[in-house]
Amino acid sequence: MLNADAIGVYLHDSYRPHAASDFSSSGTMNPAQLESLLRDATRFERLICVRSCGSTQDLGAESEPSGNLIVWSEEQTSGRGRQGRSWDTRPGKDLAITLRIEEEIDQQGQLAAALPTAILAALEGCSSLRLGLKWPNDLQFKGRKICGILIDASSQPRQRLLIGIGVNVNRSNFPAELQESASSLALATGEEFDRSEVLLAIASAVDGALRSLAEGTSDELVALFCDRLGCLGRSVRLRGDQIDASGKVEALDFEHIRLAGGESYPLAHLQGLSLR
Ligand code: BTN
Repeated sequence: MLNADAIGVYLHDSYRPHAASDFSSSGTMNPAQLESLLRDATRFERLICVRSCGSTQDLGAESEPSGNLIVWSEEQTSGRGRQGRSWDTRPGKDLAITLRIEEEIDQQGQLAAALPTAILAALEGCSSLRLGLKWPNDLQFKGRKICGILIDASSQPRQRLLIGIGVNVNRSNFPAELQESASSLALATGEEFDRSEVLLAIASAVDGALRSLAEGTSDELVALFCDRLGCLGRSVRLRGDQIDASGKVEALDFEHIRLAGGESYPLAHLQGLSLR
């Protein structure tokens, strides 16, 4: 059950004792201003900010009433990554958000590639970094992960997409097990970032990508995808439930990857794509 608080930002009942002003994430914007900008510029009507939750994916799924919204939590006590892994968020430093979209999307088969590409474009725009995309949805800088994306899609009780995004924004250190494999926008650039602006950039990019898919005008985004995945013309190994194939990549778009010899595989079925 969600209620609007005094400044119009929705806080989950279980977090009621905390005022919206306790939510320290706002940087130059308070949550109400951010929500208003999101509503004006994107399809996201509501912003739910909480100080702590299990996972923003769960809060996004259970929030009523229906509609497009964004959940932002400072802390996640059971943050989830792909393949049952956990996800570590540093409160006050990182960004843990879920973008919920409750609309019919005709281009479902293109989302696995289009959404990470849109988020990559947003983070590059904020930071001027050149990021790499590691299939399916790790965004990296010099081989170190800066952002992870978890996409949960369902059709019951209604069409729903939960795009969970964890960005290492301003943190300057990681637990020992992540030290060699992770980075943050701040570590990569030497600058601090306003997390509200990063959130706004991501929401705008996802909104724009869905619009361009619907209008059939996603050529630039596809080109960015091919470039940042960096596998065209190179030898790769593809892995998925029913797929284990190797070869040189001849063609790539948001739906398929084609290997030399003519074999084509739907990207949505691929769990791994490694350069050889
Ligand atoms: C991965 O790289 O394995 C995906 C990580 C996704 C993490 C985000 S943080 C916000 C949202 N809530 C979660 O529990 N997970 C996603």
